[in-house]
Amino acid sequence: MPHTINLNLDYDNPIKIAENIYWVGFYDKKSGLHCNPYLIVDGDEAVVIDGGSRPDFPTVMTKILKTGTNPSDIRALIYHHYDPDLCGSVSDYEDIIERDDLRIMSTLENNFFIHHYGPSSTLVDIAKYNDRFTFSSGRTLQFVRTPYAHSAGSFITFDDQSGVVFTSDLFGSYGTQWDLFILLKEICKECIGHAVCPHGQEYCPIKDIQKFHQMIMPSGKALRHAVKKILETPAGMAAPQHGSVIPMGKDLRIIGARLLELNKVGIDRIVTEEGDS
Ligand SMILES: [Fe+2]
Ligand SMILES: [Fe+2]
Repeated sequence: MPHTINLNLDYDNPIKIAENIYWVGFYDKKSGLHCNPYLIVDGDEAVVIDGGSRPDFPTVMTKILKTGTNPSDIRALIYHHYDPDLCGSVSDYEDIIERDDLRIMSTLENNFFIHHYGPSSTLVDIAKYNDRFTFSSGRTLQFVRTPYAHSAGSFITFDDQSGVVFTSDLFGSYGTQWDLFILLKEICKECIGHAVCPHGQEYCPIKDIQKFHQMIMPSGKALRHAVKKILETPAGMAAPQHGSVIPMGKDLRIIGARLLELNKVGIDRIVTEEGDS
């Protein structure tokens, strides 16, 4: 379950979000789209989730090293879909990790595209491992498929031991304000996401999350299916690939409810009825 949150954060360093789980992203003050790679350490083994873009790689790898992790401890690179903001640095990881048995794990549908980043390792279909990754300790990461949210082969990862669900673009956000963690204010918990905050707040994190999903997800149907899959896990914290970590399980469920009722998602923003545009 989530641990105490340190709000005095130094974004130039890796940040522990749960026991042996670190945010190792690049905080780019000029960008509204922050990418969040994560490192999970289990004894002398580690995995990287959605490792990040090529330009971010020096920063991300420096942070991994700062956690005390030896790159050769990294057993797997897990890619929830094939976008360049996740996969662009796959060859850079391979060069530093130098393991013949490194697993680059994703779905078959994603691997068709990840192949074009030029990795030298064999791409592993998660189905071959029953949609899970198991550390030598027995700790298991479960992969849950979220098709078309937003790629055909998209999935998310649930870590039973920590209660963290790594949601990739789901529960992500785009906006000019960014903190690693979102803690919903009491007045925001009943909010349905207005254009102008009825409570006079300058910044609305829920509105930014809604806008991001309306833009990135292909349809409300795909989004709702994926959000339900995430809410079916007993997660106490969501760690998305963009935007902010949602460290409180109750906030995760409130935001999930807002996403389930979201209109004008993807193609529905453009085509209102069949044939209309
Ligand atoms: Fe994406
Ligand atoms: Fe993304």
